[in-house]
Amino acid sequence: MDQEQWTAVDRYITDSLVPSDPILEAALEANAAAGLPSIDVAPNQGKLLHLLAMTKGARRILEIGTLGGYSTIWLARALPAGGRLVTLEVEPKHAEVAQANLDRAGLSGVVEVRLGPAAGTLAQLHKEGAEPFDLIFIDADKQNIPTYLEWALKLAKPGALIVTDNVVREGAIVDAENADPAVQGVRTMFERMAAEPRLSATAIQTVGSKGYDGFAMAVVVGD
Ligand code: SAH
Ligand code: DHB
Ligand code: MG
Repeated sequence: MDQEQWTAVDRYITDSLVPSDPILEAALEANAAAGLPSIDVAPNQGKLLHLLAMTKGARRILEIGTLGGYSTIWLARALPAGGRLVTLEVEPKHAEVAQANLDRAGLSGVVEVRLGPAAGTLAQLHKEGAEPFDLIFIDADKQNIPTYLEWALKLAKPGALIVTDNVVREGAIVDAENADPAVQGVRTMFERMAAEPRLSATAIQTVGSKGYDGFAMAVVVGD
């Protein structure tokens, strides 16, 4: 079992079930042309986010970590008429490329890209009294996941789904002594999720074209 096999199986899954889409492909091409790292979710993962948003009937989606807007497009395409997505990004270049990709996708009226460190923009959203969100996707800097989880709880509707990407890190998360701030951020997230009575949570390991990682899912079960 190795990366080559995981990539081949991801290709098979994607060729079978995730029809190629010129807008999504153009977004990935624009990201590469602008020198953005290819750390977007894989196509089959993007479709999973899309299906989760559809299943949830999400009308309001919050994304923390836009990059070039690849996952943003998958999520925003699941919104019903009148639905909105807010996505937070700290890098001006990423936000700019994302905005162009979203414009091309015809989603500029639906998606708002907010530039700045997410801890600040989350506080700002809360201060503004932003309408609560049905689905929150946490996918920015991993050492700040605990902070994002705290804001997510403040900004979530009861019953909301909180998905956090990259919570396995090639298995590094089982090592309590690991000095990587990303690993420590994820471990603190697991502790907080476990201790938080308002959340019911699990996590799933994944292998695929983007390597060995995983995602957590938490549902807001109380307030
Ligand atoms: N969700 C995207 C991938 C996001 S990659 C997709 O799947 O298509 C992570 C992004 O988080 C990067 O663009 C990075 O610039 C951004 N980021 C890192 N630290 C951040 C911070 N403090 N606030 C907001 N965004 C941040
Ligand atoms: C990184 C970030 C991601 O969101 C991801 O899916 C993979 C890698 C990173 O910062 O390296
Ligand atoms: Mg990610």
